[in-house]
This record gives sequence, C-alpha cells and structure tokens, in this order.
Amino acid sequence: MSDILVHTEAGITTISFNRLERKNSITSTMYASMADALEQASADASVRVVVFQGHETVFSAGNDIGDFLNAPPSTPESPVFRFLRGIATFPKPVLAAVCGPAVGIGTTLLFHCDLVYAGDNAAFSMPFVNLGLCPEAASSLLVPQMFGYHRAAEALLLGEPFMAEAALEVGLVNRVLPPTEVNGYAQAQARKLAAKPVTALIETKRLMKKGQASQVQAQMAEEGASFGRMLREPAAREAFAAFMEKRKPDFTKA
Ligand code: COA
Repeated sequence: MSDILVHTEAGITTISFNRLERKNSITSTMYASMADALEQASADASVRVVVFQGHETVFSAGNDIGDFLNAPPSTPESPVFRFLRGIATFPKPVLAAVCGPAVGIGTTLLFHCDLVYAGDNAAFSMPFVNLGLCPEAASSLLVPQMFGYHRAAEALLLGEPFMAEAALEVGLVNRVLPPTEVNGYAQAQARKLAAKPVTALIETKRLMKKGQASQVQAQMAEEGASFGRMLREPAAREAFAAFMEKRKPDFTKA
C-alpha cells in the first residue's frame, strides 16, 4: 500500500495520508506523489475539486523527521517545495478534513485550502521554532493575517498547539464535527462544489486569491531559502537528534 492514496471519482480527487504507523508524517516520496496528484488534477478537466484527508485519529505529524536528518530538501525543485507551490497555486477548490494532530506542514497546508472541516479532536501546531526552524508555506505571512499578530506570535514563536474550537474562532476552520463525521462531511461538501460550473469556481477562486498571489510566492521562496539553510544548522540537528532519541533537546549551544 502506498503512503499516499489518490482516488478520483465523480469529479473529486481525494488525496489521503496513509502512513498511520508513523502518524502520517510526510516523506519526500509522499510530497512527490501529492505534487504529481495536484498536477494531474489541475490538468484533468473532469476533476473539479480536491480533498485532503487523514485518519480519524491523526491528520499528519508533519515532515518525517528522519527525512529532515538524512535527506533535507536542497533546491526549490525538492518535492516539498514542489508540493507547496502546487497547492498554493491550485486553481480549483481544495478541501481538507482534519482530525487529531496536524503538525507543521499538516497545519500550514490548510492556509492554501478553500474549506477546512475539523474533528473536535483536531490539534493544530506549527512548532518550527522548537525545531530550530522558521515557518514555511507562506505561514509567516498568512498566520499573522488570519490570526492577528499576537495570536500568530503565540502559534509561531511559542509553537503551542491549539484545538479545533480556537481554529474555528480565528477562521482557519469552517466547521467542527465529531471525528467520525469529518471525512464524510468534507466529501458531501466536495460533491456540492463538483456539481457547480467549474469555470465559475476557478474564476471566483482566482479573483479571491489574486490580490496577494505574488506576495505568497515571494514569501514562500524566502522562507524556503531560510528553512533549507536552518535544517543544516546546529539547533535543528539537535532537535531532530533529540526527537529520534526520545529525549529533550539541549539548545544551550544553539
Ligand atoms: N517523523 C518521523 N516519525 C514520526 C513523526 C515524524 N514527524 N511523528 C511521529 N513519528 C513516529 C514516532 O517516532 C513513533 O515512532 P516509534 O513507534 O518508532 O516510537 C510513531 O511515529 C508514533 O508516534 P508517537 O509520538 O508515539 O505518537 P503520539 O500519538 O504519542 O503523538 C504526535 C503524535 C504527532 C503528537 C507526535 O508524534 C509528534 O509530536 N510528532 C512530531 C511532530 C513534529 O515535530 N513534526 C515536524 C513538524 S515540522
């Protein structure tokens, strides 16, 4: 079984994280599969909507930390950056169904979705600083915009998790549901969108996003350059080693 499942039916492409034993953490192979799936969904006129979903207990634990240690992304063409550009510029509606932990990119990818449905067990976090890193996916721009600066600082500087109700309050989430109902509800909403005229959906999304499309791209590129450099620096190396060794990191020298 693949770690990313892609299924297209009735105009809806569903991309599912399928690596439960590693809490749906994402490897470079998985980013490449998701980037390919988005490219195909964009080019295929019969696809009208994309849905990202995880498991009832976990959406995604973010980037695979072993991958960060052994094969950090090195160029803008690395799969993670290809995926991020793909989702940020995807022309048709993108939905997400999120239950349980959504860590790092598991949360930041949601800023590029049009509709987000969450289980009442959803726990969002962007612990980049705790890993010696900086934000990615233009989250350093989009989180302050959506949350307000001080709440963004809490999420991005302290890296503390926040639950579904708080995500609903700041506008990251459209609706909170029991975890068993989230994937089904997202599919029902996707079916509503898939029945609408696709040209009108695409043009409406383009108009809503165009005001800051180039700013998002520029922020993502700048973050990506910093992120790529910081992955190789002592603070991040210590954080990843500590995670693998199941101990607290020691940042006294970082
Ligand atoms: N990369 C690699 N492996 C990961 C992982 C990740 N991001 N997240 C979890 N795993 C592994 C764990 O090491 C563990 O492996 P083991 O069974 O060999 O010990 C397994 O998945 C289960 O994870 P565990 O931590 O025991 O599950 P949990 O339910 O107690 O906690 C999380 C779930 C998501 C809260 C926790 O795993 C976590 O915080 N993960 C790291 C998140 C992170 O920092 N991601 C990077 C963001 S940039």
